[in-house]
Amino acid sequence: MTDQITIRRPDDWHVHLRDGDMLKAVAHYTARQFARAIVMPNLSPPVTTSAQAGAYRDRILAALPADSDFQPLMTCYLTDSADADDIAAGFAAGIFTAAKLYPANATTNSAHGVTDVANIQSVLGRMQDIGMPLLIHGEVTDSDIDIFDREAVFIERTLKDLIAGFPELKVVFEHITTQQAVQFVDQAGPNVAATITPHHLHINRNAMFQGGMRPHAYCLPVAKREQHRLALRQAATSGSSKYFLGTDSAPHEIHAKESACGCAGIFNAPYAMESYAAVFEEEGALDHLEAFASINGPQFYGLPLNEDMVTLHRSETEIPDILPAAGTSIVPFQSGESLVWRLATA
Ligand code: NCD
Ligand code: ZN
Repeated sequence: MTDQITIRRPDDWHVHLRDGDMLKAVAHYTARQFARAIVMPNLSPPVTTSAQAGAYRDRILAALPADSDFQPLMTCYLTDSADADDIAAGFAAGIFTAAKLYPANATTNSAHGVTDVANIQSVLGRMQDIGMPLLIHGEVTDSDIDIFDREAVFIERTLKDLIAGFPELKVVFEHITTQQAVQFVDQAGPNVAATITPHHLHINRNAMFQGGMRPHAYCLPVAKREQHRLALRQAATSGSSKYFLGTDSAPHEIHAKESACGCAGIFNAPYAMESYAAVFEEEGALDHLEAFASINGPQFYGLPLNEDMVTLHRSETEIPDILPAAGTSIVPFQSGESLVWRLATA
C-alpha cells in the first residue's frame, strides 16, 4: 500500500478569497495548500477593471503570512458593459490571467453578471485574439428551469453556440457537476477544459437533506444525482488533460449559511488536497493525482509548471467541526470527518 505521494506543488484554478477580515482569515489556508490560485472576482462590488484587480491582488498579498510565496492570479468579472481595451491591457500587463462569465443572478454576487452573451461579443473576440482564457459559470437562470437541470440546459442553449462562435477561445467550464458536462468537455476541442471541485466528487444531492436540511452541503452549481458524481469521479481521475483542480472554496460565516435563506458555498480550502487524494485513492488512480492537481491546469493556461514538490503522507487527518474566522466561524467541508491523507507542511 502506498504510504506517501510526492507530486509537483499543486495549484487551485478556482477559489473565492473574499476581502477584508474574511480574506485575512482564509487566505493562508489556500496558500498552504497551493502555489497559485485563480481568484474569483465576485466581490461586492465586483472586480471589473484592471485597476481594481491590481488593488485586490495587493490586498491578497498583504493578507498572506510573511514567508508565503503564494501567487494570486486575478480575474475580470465580465458585465454587459465590459471594456475590451482595459481587459486586454490588464492581460498584457500580467494583472489579469482570465475573465469570468457569470450569467446575471446565477450565484453569489452575480447580480452584475452578463444578461446575454450577445452583449460581450467584442470582448470575447478580443480575448480569443490575445489567448486570454474565459472562465464560465455554466448555469441558466430561468425560473422555469429546474435547478438540477440548469447546467445541462446551459450547454444546449448557450455554451455550444459560444464555442462555435469563438472556436479558438480558451474556455474553462468551471466546477462542472453533471454527466452532460463531462460528455460535452470530452468531445470538445483541446481549447475547452473543466475544473472539478472536491465536494462534487464526494457528495451527491442527498447530502443536502441527510436527516434534515444541511446548509453546509449547499453550493452552486448544486450537487446532482449519484450518476453525475460518478461521471465526475471518472473524468477527474481518468488522466485526461482536460480536467484540473479547482476547489471553488467559498467561505461564508456560519450564520450566513445556517439561516432561513442560507448562502451557497462550501469552504474546502483547509483540507483540499487531502480531500482530492481520498477520491483518487478510492478510484485506484493516485498515479493521476499529479496531472489533475499540478500539470493540466498550468498547461491549459500556458503557464510554467511549479518546480517544487509536496508530499502527502498516509496519516489520519481530523477535520475540525468549526474554524474561527473574522470574529465568527466557518464550518469546513467534511467537518467532523477524518481523512486518510495529510499534506506535509513545508
Ligand atoms: C460561490 C460564492 O459563494 O462566491 N458560491 C458557490 O456556491 N460556489 C459563487 C460561485 O462560485 O458560484
Ligand atoms: Zn466559485
